[in-house]
Amino acid sequence: MARVDVIRVKGGSPLIGDVSVGGAKNSALKLMAVALLGEGRSVVSNVPRITDIAIMAEVLRRLGCAVTLDGTEAVIDVPFEPGAEADYDLVRRLRASICVLGPLLARRGYVRVALPGGDMIGSRGLDMHVAGLARMGAEISNEHGFVIASAPAGLRGTKIWLDFPSVGATENLLMAAVLAKGVTEIDNAAREPEIVDICEMLTAMGARIDGAGTSTLIVEGVDGPLKPVRHTTVGDRIVGGTWAYGAAMTRGDVTVHGVRPEFLDIALDKLVAAGATVEPGDDWFRVRMTERPKHVDIVTLPFPGFATDLLPMAIGLASVAEGASLITENIFDGRFMFVNEMVRLGADIRTDGHHAVVNGRERLSGAPVRATDIRAGAGLVIAGLCADGVTEVGEVHHIDRGYPDFVADLARLGVEVERTDVPEPTFDF
Ligand code: EPU
Repeated sequence: MARVDVIRVKGGSPLIGDVSVGGAKNSALKLMAVALLGEGRSVVSNVPRITDIAIMAEVLRRLGCAVTLDGTEAVIDVPFEPGAEADYDLVRRLRASICVLGPLLARRGYVRVALPGGDMIGSRGLDMHVAGLARMGAEISNEHGFVIASAPAGLRGTKIWLDFPSVGATENLLMAAVLAKGVTEIDNAAREPEIVDICEMLTAMGARIDGAGTSTLIVEGVDGPLKPVRHTTVGDRIVGGTWAYGAAMTRGDVTVHGVRPEFLDIALDKLVAAGATVEPGDDWFRVRMTERPKHVDIVTLPFPGFATDLLPMAIGLASVAEGASLITENIFDGRFMFVNEMVRLGADIRTDGHHAVVNGRERLSGAPVRATDIRAGAGLVIAGLCADGVTEVGEVHHIDRGYPDFVADLARLGVEVERTDVPEPTFDF
């Protein structure tokens, strides 16, 4: 009989206490790819201890790098000529490994990376990555499930307008541009703190970048390879935001350490609108809630807008708030997939296209549900804290991909929680 991991939580107790947040997954993964632009030993510290980092380490090893993961440090030793291929068996497990496309094309003039395909939160195209690299002079084809790009004479600087401030496209084009001939201007670039983090590591390695954190990135190409460096990953604002929403939903009091509150400006402001008290520090903040949350309307947008990765927490808050909230998702077409699981917990949610109308209930009702992606998984566990009885969230390997110590952190914040594996019946024909 197969066994699956579940997290069981007992509803009713508020989240109370202090929680420390490590480095951002979505920064650390890309910082490991940034190392490919240097020759020699780079060290990325404050990396979260999650499966995705281990997969990224394997992607780099197969490119000829020596990689060790030691605690929260990734040591990456890059050869003079790294490999240029990333296979489907790893890319399908870690969509983010597509971020080796830009740096490898810049270093090697040729790259062959498996196409990752879609996932549970949406279709997730690569058209902007490809169009941008093509504008820089790369020849690109799509063959047998791989994207193949070559630029034997090197990439050249140019002006690129992104149709949408895509995080992944901005990163790939940025990493390609640092070794291109001449100046590249990326307009409508993503402004996420993780992009700024990447720019900081690249700059320390010798790249010339202006405009980090704005929607126009100007990159003056330099000769490669860059020099290896030590870099510390920025704190994970999504994990920090998850605890902030958990505190407000459970009428708790949580101090989150390791994340700068300005990275969560709108998300924290929405909590204030819902009735919470937020005390911001330099790299910490405290969220307290003493009453039932009031309804708030929330719209996800690229940074500095409300992060799509906190959409499940927004739906969770609205599900227990007084009154009706309108929640709008603008980034991923499949992000509402998990709403059916919230309905199993008794939430009153109707969706239409990219809108959800949520009528808050005083309490949800504990039930078995399953995680459909990282953030939905964490959101369902937190929602379970506002439910009568026990909530059992299945397929929690999704949560492991983004939250290194989720169960231990919940326990420290006063939750009755356990992680077990339960038998799953098999049905033979
Ligand atoms: N898009 C295109 N064409 C492109 C690129 C993007 O149509 O060439 C579309 C996507 O299909 C999507 C939207 O644009 O609908 C946004 O995509 P974006 O490129 O901004 O996102 P991403 O780089 O694929 C990263 C994070 C996500 C996070 C988004 C938005 C990583 C590894 N992933 O994805 O994080 O939700 O940015 O902020 O950095 C997560 O951590 O759980 C997660 C999903």
